[in-house]
Amino acid sequence: MSTSWTTLCGADDLPDGEARAFEIGEARLCLVNDAGSFFCVDDLCTHGRAFLSEGYCDTEDCVLECPLHGGLFDYKSGEACGDPAEKPVRTYPVRIEDGQVQVRL
Ligand code: FES
Repeated sequence: MSTSWTTLCGADDLPDGEARAFEIGEARLCLVNDAGSFFCVDDLCTHGRAFLSEGYCDTEDCVLECPLHGGLFDYKSGEACGDPAEKPVRTYPVRIEDGQVQVRL
């Protein structure tokens, strides 16, 4: 893991309760705004070829639901927590710096 931080967007740019995809080099990330706390995971589902940012974001249960087969992932831990998803998605450290959401790849 590198020690440099990459800016994704302004903290006000992603509405509360939403998830959005960002492409940084080879990586495609899914950023979630949960009441002003931001979480970042790999956007590609570990079960198949679908993007979690295009599914349902449930900030009550802290999960992303895959749009293809409904697999669930905890966006805080990356854990797969609903069939048919079994393998976790990778998580990335996030910080807010000068009003910008930054991720460490
Ligand atoms: S592709 Fe995501 S649950 Fe199947």
